[in-house]
Amino acid sequence: MKVINSIKDMRAWSKAQRRQDKIIGFVPTMGFLHEGHLSLIRKAKEHSDLTVISIFVNPAQFAPGEDLDQYPRDFERDEKLCAQEDVNVIFYPSNDNMYLDKHKTYVITEELSKKLCGKSRSTHFRGVTTIVAKLFNIVNPHIAVFGQKDAQQAVIIQRMVTDLNFDIQIIISPIIREADGLAMSSRNKYLNENERKQAAVLYRSLQSAKTEFEKDNRSLLEIKDKITAVIKNEPASRIDYVEIVDAQTLGSPDPGEGDMLIALAVFFGKTRLIDNIIVPGKGEEWSTGVLE
Ligand code: PAF
Repeated sequence: MKVINSIKDMRAWSKAQRRQDKIIGFVPTMGFLHEGHLSLIRKAKEHSDLTVISIFVNPAQFAPGEDLDQYPRDFERDEKLCAQEDVNVIFYPSNDNMYLDKHKTYVITEELSKKLCGKSRSTHFRGVTTIVAKLFNIVNPHIAVFGQKDAQQAVIIQRMVTDLNFDIQIIISPIIREADGLAMSSRNKYLNENERKQAAVLYRSLQSAKTEFEKDNRSLLEIKDKITAVIKNEPASRIDYVEIVDAQTLGSPDPGEGDMLIALAVFFGKTRLIDNIIVPGKGEEWSTGVLE
């Protein structure tokens, strides 16, 4: 396994592999890897000959006052995990490498980036799309894998790839959960013992919505109220949003037609966690959340 720091070396590696007709799979991450990331790596490996993972905590997607400085980092541990997963390259650039002082260009996916998390994190998705576009140009992969856990990010990246004609296949991989249902996230590390216990309510609340849909309840207002009530039972929780939207447009859904996304963001103490489930449209099956 190689660790590549420079953009020039990363490009040269990809170019050499492409010349030999190798399919390059790519998993962009901010490091502090957990089982969720490892599932993305395994998914990439299924679809490619060689796997590149990037580790870069991207300042452009954190607003002032957010957790950029505290964001957990442990490169040595990440490196070991990548080696165990037979990753071929870790692209591990420095901030100075990725953002020159005179950096002035941003990629913005309009409308989609203002919804859901975009309401409280107004510059977050422009940071994500900008870094992902840069990484795509540097790594030049054939496929890239993102997690369904960041559902809005997944929709936005797919839109960006289509709109900007990136010749990259995007694969979205299912959410990986802890035994009590909490979606795996590097930010779970911020939770104290009490908050960690209470955070399992997110999955329970989404399951309660699933039960309502299975009982054929199509009142989105009632279902949102139900989710909210379940979460509010946990005293450490503070809801940022609970929304039910069309899974593609993130706009108003048409219950029973296309897939719907139930997405939420909730604070436990100072830690903001997100989670979601997809309610399948007509004739489709509920996802089990287990890797295919
Ligand atoms: O999902 C993440 O970890 C980040 O948003 C990403 C895609 C690596 C961009 O920094």
